Amino acid sequence: DMSRVLLIGSINMDLVVEADSFPRQGETLFGHRFATYPGGKGANQAVAAARLGATVSLIACLGQDAFGEQLLAGLKAEGIDTRWISRVDAATGMASITLAGGDNAILVVPGANNAVSAAQLDAAEQAFIDADVVLAQLEVPLATVEHAAMLAARHGKPFILNPAPAQPLPATLLQQVSLLTPNEYELAVALASQQPWQQLLASRPAGIVMTQGSQGASYADAQGGLQQIAGFPVAAVDSTGAGDTFNGALAAFWRLGLAEAVRRANAAAALSVTRQGAQSGMPTLAELQHFLDQQA
Ligand code: RIB
Repeated sequence: DMSRVLLIGSINMDLVVEADSFPRQGETLFGHRFATYPGGKGANQAVAAARLGATVSLIACLGQDAFGEQLLAGLKAEGIDTRWISRVDAATGMASITLAGGDNAILVVPGANNAVSAAQLDAAEQAFIDADVVLAQLEVPLATVEHAAMLAARHGKPFILNPAPAQPLPATLLQQVSLLTPNEYELAVALASQQPWQQLLASRPAGIVMTQGSQGASYADAQGGLQQIAGFPVAAVDSTGAGDTFNGALAAFWRLGLAEAVRRANAAAALSVTRQGAQSGMPTLAELQHFLDQQA
């Protein structure tokens, strides 16, 4: 009962530095650990869904460089269909991530991710036809995301948009989104609204799931009543990629209905923050099942 998930999104190499505090402007500090991890919201969400047993295709762009080679090999090893990934004349996307005091600060340089185009999606239209659900984020050009929404609509496929990083969204795009999955900040920015989140959720029953970190996630049901699906307390090591795990899992479990998909996505996200690196802690289906059995 797992979904066939089509991802449109970014692939980055994450360059992660651990430090005691964040450097201030003009300041030089020593960090105490450095590591590279595969990342990028598109790739992370693809890996999250694939580990949980979904059939996953990813439309994306990589550079013709060493990071590109390494990241492509990693995606293939996860069993992801990479046939729609193009190698372009730009540096592979990267994210400079600093971890300090249990928090993170991230700079993303999109590079090749900026080359993900409407034409590339058109060339991959078969992937839309084959999918049960289409999932995108905002680390590729907005025009490409709008085109993805249009193609999903053309083929009658639900379109999930994780509006991250935060960006205001055109009303025409919002009309084509089946489910928006922001955190509280991204929700306000996406809808360009200062209204309380409770009102924003109620304005689109079952059309917005707002993630709330360790608290879980909330949405409004068909009667406009707020539903909070509780999160799972864990000892967090690195929250990078928690939202991506949530989104990938939500798409993977799409066929179970919103409440159950959100519950499992909360559990997957909780597990993902127990290890450093966006993808390292993402659970397999067996690991998720084991975790949920322990909670029961
Ligand atoms: O959502 C986490 C991701 O955001 C990281 O993997 C990093 O690549 C940035 O794109």
